[in-house]
Amino acid sequence: MPPASPQHILGADLSALAAAFRRDGYTDASCDEVQSLTRALGLPPPQVTLRALNAPAALRTHTALWALGLPVPEAELAPLLGPPLVERLITLGILNRGAGAIRAEFSVIPSDGLLTTRDFDAVITGKPAGDDYVLGIGPSTRRLAALMVPTPGGLTLDLGTGQGFLAITASQWSSRVIATDVNRRALSAAAFSANISGRTNIEFREGSYFEPVADLRGKCNLILCNPPFVIQPSGDRVCFTGAERGDRCIQHLVEEGPAYLAPGGWLSVLGNWTHTDESDWADTPMQWAKGRQCDVWIIRRQSWSPRAYAQSWIDELTRNGASADRPLVLDEWLAYYESLGIRRITMGAVVMHRREGKNWARFDTLFSDSAGDAGPQAAQLFENQTTLNDLTPELLLHRAIVPVRGLEIDLRHRFGEQGFAPSSITLRNTTGFPMPLSVQLGALEVVRRLDGSRSLAQIAAEVAQVHGGDPASLAPAIASLGMELLRLGHARLAD
Ligand SMILES: C[S@@+](CC[C@H](N)C(=O)[O-])C[C@H]1O[C@@H](n2cnc3c(N)ncnc32)[C@H](O)[C@@H]1O
Repeated sequence: MPPASPQHILGADLSALAAAFRRDGYTDASCDEVQSLTRALGLPPPQVTLRALNAPAALRTHTALWALGLPVPEAELAPLLGPPLVERLITLGILNRGAGAIRAEFSVIPSDGLLTTRDFDAVITGKPAGDDYVLGIGPSTRRLAALMVPTPGGLTLDLGTGQGFLAITASQWSSRVIATDVNRRALSAAAFSANISGRTNIEFREGSYFEPVADLRGKCNLILCNPPFVIQPSGDRVCFTGAERGDRCIQHLVEEGPAYLAPGGWLSVLGNWTHTDESDWADTPMQWAKGRQCDVWIIRRQSWSPRAYAQSWIDELTRNGASADRPLVLDEWLAYYESLGIRRITMGAVVMHRREGKNWARFDTLFSDSAGDAGPQAAQLFENQTTLNDLTPELLLHRAIVPVRGLEIDLRHRFGEQGFAPSSITLRNTTGFPMPLSVQLGALEVVRRLDGSRSLAQIAAEVAQVHGGDPASLAPAIASLGMELLRLGHARLAD
């Protein structure tokens, strides 16, 4: 039986499930242990992992059912969940009964303080993943989660919600979340996750991108989308490649999204887009974002040749069970790119902030992932970039700036004739993207004095007094250091 509608699932009382997990120790830690065990055993069939698992009976039953996708005898499960909850989950199509044993339709994994859901891997089910396969939380989910600018009390729209992790995470500080998907099965999995994670402010709607949310034009404080961005000849599953050709999905989001933002609202989308050579990676998304009353930050993570891109995705999709029924052929992918004139493919993100006035755009290549949340950093970076539009180094000299919390000074020493001597300084963010900035050794004297209480001109005077020299000749270097610290979001203007 297919899973019930998201509305039915949201409306059911499933609170006893989370309580049973807590009571029986089915937690992030127990699931991590199962994963480590599976890896250590060389990814064997799930029965082998279960046999090797040393855990109390109740925890073994939850693990078998929800983590390993194995059937469990009803007589084992009923005492743990209680017969009424088992019946309710069967009616909702979340548990399936057959020959005295029960199987779960979706995997449930405790993670990040939530109960997350997903389809079982093809290696577990032994069947190729279907078109309606629901992906688990992956690296791209994490990247977008880290890039969310928190808009407390606001309305969040999560397009292509999949297993619902982004929507459910945002529901912790949003007043209301609307989550959409074309895959009804994904909406059911997400609703199940929302329900058992105790979230009551999420509404699920079926449909393509903005189609089911016409009523939200001009109202959203945050729009998120981790779209099906793999550029390939024909989509094998809707979670990887949408119905549109090439990079049309991210084009659509960047072009249409701003109209759904409230003033001051944010849009963060991930995607892969195509271009013609190494230097023009920002041009394609910039064309889409132009003239939409938004400031725009285009982030590049990596660019590939078509061949390298195709090979890496063919490997990934094959590992994921996509090619079990239809092998993916490199030459077909390359012919497809050739027919579209694609020479380079970039993977990155576009962040937009709706703002009245003269808008700006900036482009950064950030090869590493952010450490923890980059949302507050993004908000600071946008604020600073807007300030910088009207600020010259001369004007900045009369202002005070303060480093952002977590900025780190990395002072290296090198051994030489005089023993160890300071050799270089790098400033980097420890929360969010590191955005490293190498500065001259003398800058340490300046950076240490940035407490927001004195202007950069006063700092120039102090440094000149301590070390000798002329404040006027130090001032230009200090002003340009200040400009760079603001540009990278390492500091903010003091009030
Ligand atoms: C890469 S998955 C992302 C899932 C989840 N948001 C995450 O970050 O893990 C892409 C999701 O977009 C959905 N999708 C594909 N085409 C869509 C469309 N035209 N409109 C809305 N959702 C779509 C897929 O069903 C899938 O759930």
